[in-house]
Amino acid sequence: MATLKEKRTCGQRCEDFGRFVWNSENGTFMGRTPLRWVYISLYYVAFYVVMTGLFSLAIYVLMYTIDPYVPMYQDRLKSPGVMVWPDTYSDEQVQITYNMSNKQSWGKMSQCLTTFLKPYNDTTQKQINPCNCTTGKYFIQNTYNAPNHTKYACPFLQSMLGNCSGISDPSFGYSGSQPCVIIKMNRIINFLPNNGTGLAPYVNCTVLEGQENVRSMEYYPTNGTFDLSYYPYYGRKAQPTYYNPLVAVKIDLVNQRTAKMHCRVMANNIAYESIHEPYTGRVVFYIQALS
Ligand SMILES: *[C@@H]1O[C@H](CO)[C@@H](O)[C@H](O)[C@H]1NC(C)=O
Ligand SMILES: *[C@@H]1O[C@H](CO)[C@@H](O)[C@H](O)[C@H]1NC(C)=O
Ligand SMILES: *[C@@H]1O[C@H](CO)[C@@H](O)[C@H](O)[C@H]1NC(C)=O
Ligand SMILES: *[C@@H]1O[C@H](CO)[C@@H](O)[C@H](O)[C@H]1NC(C)=O
Ligand SMILES: *[C@@H]1O[C@H](CO)[C@@H](O)[C@H](O)[C@H]1NC(C)=O
Ligand SMILES: *[C@@H]1O[C@H](CO)[C@@H](O)[C@H](O)[C@H]1NC(C)=O
Ligand SMILES: *[C@@H]1O[C@H](CO)[C@@H](O)[C@H](O)[C@H]1NC(C)=O
Ligand SMILES: *[C@@H]1O[C@H](CO)[C@@H](O)[C@H](O)[C@H]1NC(C)=O
Repeated sequence: MATLKEKRTCGQRCEDFGRFVWNSENGTFMGRTPLRWVYISLYYVAFYVVMTGLFSLAIYVLMYTIDPYVPMYQDRLKSPGVMVWPDTYSDEQVQITYNMSNKQSWGKMSQCLTTFLKPYNDTTQKQINPCNCTTGKYFIQNTYNAPNHTKYACPFLQSMLGNCSGISDPSFGYSGSQPCVIIKMNRIINFLPNNGTGLAPYVNCTVLEGQENVRSMEYYPTNGTFDLSYYPYYGRKAQPTYYNPLVAVKIDLVNQRTAKMHCRVMANNIAYESIHEPYTGRVVFYIQALS
């Protein structure tokens, strides 16, 4: 049962350690002579100086080649996402349910739209975007003519949403059975909908479930189009006052007053059937008016 190595006492271990820290026989400190410690320190100092230099150079070159007006990796998103307001979710799906006999219930929906449309106030928009835009044409700007080295953005006015603007009917139809929803398409820098064919993208809503409960739909602006003058978008830095154009849909609910809706943005270069991206090019939502 004898161990091969002799067991040493704690005192001996301490002595060993002491000898390691300062070995007077060899004149070494922590296993190295002071001179070797100086050499090794100098080596590491030089090493880190060179590494820091290389790193700084790489960052400098990177920053120098980046155009601050165009973010990198933008081409990962090829098709824009589509969203709907009021954005009330249940179980990850948009579920717009309200009680039209209960002001507190439907008031939440109209309040959501009022808040959402606040930056689109006609007065505000005309003030921050004093721009004469030609409807039906891309607004191509190759130079930075707007103040502070920026580009103009076309104003989108709340009043363009007609009966869904909240101006004539501040309840947005939620005090009855003709609620409005607002469709927004996300921005993609330099994206030209329909790629130069001169046609504007438009929203097309269909009823997936409960066809008998939807009598009709009205689109605002006319035909549910996103006018071409809002494209291309040049980025936050180039167009700081850009606001996405919107389309509102007034849904006339009858019978059970509940439906599953599917709204698509139609353009030849907007995909919509990606399983992995259910909100690309389209949005699905449930709408229900209780009483
Ligand atoms: C809707 O609101 C009215 C009035 O508050 C209430 O009587 C009714 O039960 C509500 N309906 C539903 C389905 O909650
Ligand atoms: C837009 O803003 C102006 C001035 O702030 C205000 O008088 C007007 O009522 C607002 N319009 C709407 C529709 O809220
Ligand atoms: C828009 O038109 C008005 C009057 O025609 C003009 O004074 C103004 O400078 C124009 N604005 C831009 C951005 O072109
Ligand atoms: C341009 O920038 C200056 C300084 O940031 C600011 O005071 C001014 O209001 C800006 N002009 C416009 C038209 O945005
Ligand atoms: C807006 O609503 C009014 C009253 O309900 C209606 O007469 C009018 O035709 C509607 N406007 C549009 C563009 O549908
Ligand atoms: C879009 O149009 C440009 C020029 O007209 C063309 O070069 C390009 O291939 C088109 N892209 C698509 C996806 O159709
Ligand atoms: C809207 O979509 C439906 C179903 O996909 C289609 O039958 C209809 O023709 C479309 N309407 C327009 C105006 O594109
Ligand atoms: C709406 O669409 C119809 C049919 O495609 C077209 O005749 C009309 O000019 C369009 N209206 C607007 C304002 O784009």
